[in-house]
Amino acid sequence: MGTGKTTVGSILADRCGMDFIDLDAEIERRAGSTIAEFWAQHGEPAFRDLEAQTFADLMNGSSRGGGCIFATGGGTLVSERNRARVQPDDVVFCLTCDVEGIRSRLDGERDVRPLVARLDGEDVAAYMEDRLGRRRAAYELYQQVDTTRRLPEEVAGEIERLTDISSFDLRFDAARVSRIVFGRGVAGRLGDALVQQGVTGSVLVVTDDVVNELPLVRAATASIQAPGVDGREGGGPRLRGAALRFAGTNLLPAGEQHKTLVSVDRIYRAAMSAKLDRSSTIVGIGGGVIGDLAGHAAATYMRGIQLVLVPTTLVAQVDATIGGKVGVDFEGIKNLVGAFHPARVIAIDPDLLATLPDTALADGMAEIVKIAMVFSADLLSRVEALGGVRDILAAPAIIRLAAALKARIVERDPFERGDRALLNFGHTVGHGIESASVYRVSHGQAISAGMVAETWLAARLGLADRGAPDRLGALLGRFGLPGRVEGVDTGGIWSAMQSDKKRRDGKLRFGLSTVPGSGSVVEVAAADARDAVGFACRKDGRQ
Ligand SMILES: NC(=O)c1ccc[n+]([C@@H]2O[C@H](COP(=O)([O-])OP(=O)(O)OC[C@H]3O[C@@H](n4cnc5c(N)ncnc54)[C@H](O)[C@@H]3O)[C@@H](O)[C@H]2O)c1
Repeated sequence: MGTGKTTVGSILADRCGMDFIDLDAEIERRAGSTIAEFWAQHGEPAFRDLEAQTFADLMNGSSRGGGCIFATGGGTLVSERNRARVQPDDVVFCLTCDVEGIRSRLDGERDVRPLVARLDGEDVAAYMEDRLGRRRAAYELYQQVDTTRRLPEEVAGEIERLTDISSFDLRFDAARVSRIVFGRGVAGRLGDALVQQGVTGSVLVVTDDVVNELPLVRAATASIQAPGVDGREGGGPRLRGAALRFAGTNLLPAGEQHKTLVSVDRIYRAAMSAKLDRSSTIVGIGGGVIGDLAGHAAATYMRGIQLVLVPTTLVAQVDATIGGKVGVDFEGIKNLVGAFHPARVIAIDPDLLATLPDTALADGMAEIVKIAMVFSADLLSRVEALGGVRDILAAPAIIRLAAALKARIVERDPFERGDRALLNFGHTVGHGIESASVYRVSHGQAISAGMVAETWLAARLGLADRGAPDRLGALLGRFGLPGRVEGVDTGGIWSAMQSDKKRRDGKLRFGLSTVPGSGSVVEVAAADARDAVGFACRKDGRQ
């Protein structure tokens, strides 16, 4: 007790974008009283039973699916029955502190700490020594982190460095795995993160002239250059300088109009003059455009070298970098030339997003709402709790969950034969809008209106309830996203949809949200689909 489990745990959860569960708080909720009161009334054995039951329930709970940080009580893992609940891929740290440190932290908390409430002065120290002595063997089963005279932020930082707790994998096949390293502050320690993930050799950074000016991006690049050590356990400290060689930064002009082979040509030349070889790595730092360009170059230079991506827009963090698709626009056709080349590491730092304008955040929110509407009621309810678009900056758990969901969907259905097609929700009409507006309407705005129109279609087909389009429109509106578009020709949208690859036998294939959080892929008659286009463009909002 008093080692800072709750404080450190909640800081860590915030930094990692994970949920935080405090066992003591949950026990108090169930008991309907403070632990001190429960203890005084029912005694320690009854408390331990309640603790064990609560622990068991939480360890089996659904929140574990997305990963969470769990602060136990000081005695929880002393019990063998509780220890048996810990799964092999759970990571346990034991926070320690010297007795003097604990005593000073507990001053003023006597009324809520049942074990010390009855003691004072020297008794507390003797009591602590005694407890610790009896618990030491159990505590030593786990990796210890000393908290004596340290700030909780410092302790949280150490645990983050010692483990990959907030990372997850996207496994395409036996040979190709993307490791997604998620966390606030990851950009600033990119060099360490890369070494930790086994990236070695020459590293060429590819970014754009806007992103390159961001202080966090400067810190990321500097962290690859600075000599240092990584904190990985087991192997002992390793000199980063010995593992990574910074081979320079290749600066490209920002913007979709530069997502062409001309930019790829520039990357090839930079790679040649930096003498990159087959063991080298291209690190793309930027939005979806830089990810696609750096990826295309990495896929083709010397028939393929390693790729690392550091997405700096919300679109790139939850969508563009996750899935292995890379490529460029050609002759005005988006993504016509490309390849499949998954990044070895994708480092997602939500703090990078703070400098994005509302419109760019809204584009990302459209993708998050899309994933939530067809795949996750949990994500949807978290999104519904946001008041406006900038609230996402304080909600890293939403970003992490959206990215993890996309990763899981891609993993389950790499060739888009099954339910990955649901990720097209809003895109059939949305792509038509984008194309008919000659990209005046942004991708996010187009799929926003597309999602509302396709939900209207689902309601008309009896697959969704009648109030669904309005509810979705209101949610998107909160992020500055439209439910309809103006000034785009319906005929143009419809003809763009004809050439869409989702058309078959006069019917169009849609991924539709049926109930919030799930959906189905359906074939829709042309007449119904055309009415949905009309809805997307209707001015007065009448259905
Ligand atoms: N490969 C895929 O699977 C996939 C999926 C979805 C989208 N994409 C592609 O992604 C692209 C769109 O990506 P995007 O929306 O990230 O746009 P983008 O890459 O063009 O970035 C938008 C603008 O924001 C700037 N910017 C980036 N990060 C910033 C930051 N942190 N602060 C301030 N400004 C910043 C950029 O310089 C750029 O000017 C499209 O080309 C699309 O085709 C690819």
